[in-house]
Amino acid sequence: MTTFLKKKRKRSLNSSESSYDIDPASLPCHVAIIMDGNGRWAKKRILNRIEGHKKGAEVVRAIVRTCRETGISILTLYAFSTENWQRPKTEIFALMTLLKNFLESELKEMLDNNIRLNAIGQIEKLPENVQQVLHKTMALTKKNNGLMLNLALSYGGRAEIVRMVREIAIKTKEGDIDPDFITSELVSDFLYTKGIPDPDLLIRTSGEMRISNFLLWQIAYTEIFVTKTLWPDFSKQEFLEILKHYQHRERRFGKV
Ligand code: IPE
Ligand code: IPE
Ligand code: MG
Repeated sequence: MTTFLKKKRKRSLNSSESSYDIDPASLPCHVAIIMDGNGRWAKKRILNRIEGHKKGAEVVRAIVRTCRETGISILTLYAFSTENWQRPKTEIFALMTLLKNFLESELKEMLDNNIRLNAIGQIEKLPENVQQVLHKTMALTKKNNGLMLNLALSYGGRAEIVRMVREIAIKTKEGDIDPDFITSELVSDFLYTKGIPDPDLLIRTSGEMRISNFLLWQIAYTEIFVTKTLWPDFSKQEFLEILKHYQHRERRFGKV
């Protein structure tokens, strides 16, 4: 865990934050969310799926704010998977436009509140204009050491593992890595999440009991919560409830 994270975890909550009734000592350092159910939310209202994504983007804003207020160090959001490229072109276009708008509209919020933006996934596959804002936002927020907002974009756990194997294989072939020194720490260093501690808590909305290719390596000992709530209906209150439940979980890491 990097020093800034250690520092962050020790931080005590101020009076308004402590009213959330959350113990700062057992707060998850890293929360990851599979934001699912936008399409079903829209369908229930006889709306276009895109309306669900729009409402979903508003929820992202609220949850980012709550993470900042409670003192969570890292929030990783599954925003677009490697498989999501198989959706209709119009839906992909709408999602990319929403992403670009989100980055542009949230820049001030990120700068004012010490938020650092990071991205994991095949960023090079995103449309040129989205890549530009993404790189610009990451550069402008690079020095911030408050909440890290980590967006998984064109992200797939298997693709990430394949990329890691390929890179380690090349380095091994070139003689830069000795196969005897390939450890789980070394593997972690070749993933998109290099330097980021594994998630403590993974939340999936909309009730599906599956991982959908998210952070396959990193969630080995992550606590998982699935809620039936569709992402556009997910709220700060429910998020805080889940944090409270997390605090009552006994994490054993294979020990007794
Ligand atoms: C999650 O909602 C958003 C993305 C995957 C981009 P969905 O679009 O998957 O919504 P459902 O699962 O069809 O309801
Ligand atoms: C997972 O949701 C991906 C994101 C939330 C970005 P999906 O809706 O794509 O996953 P499946 O199809 O239910 O497995
Ligand atoms: Mg879905």
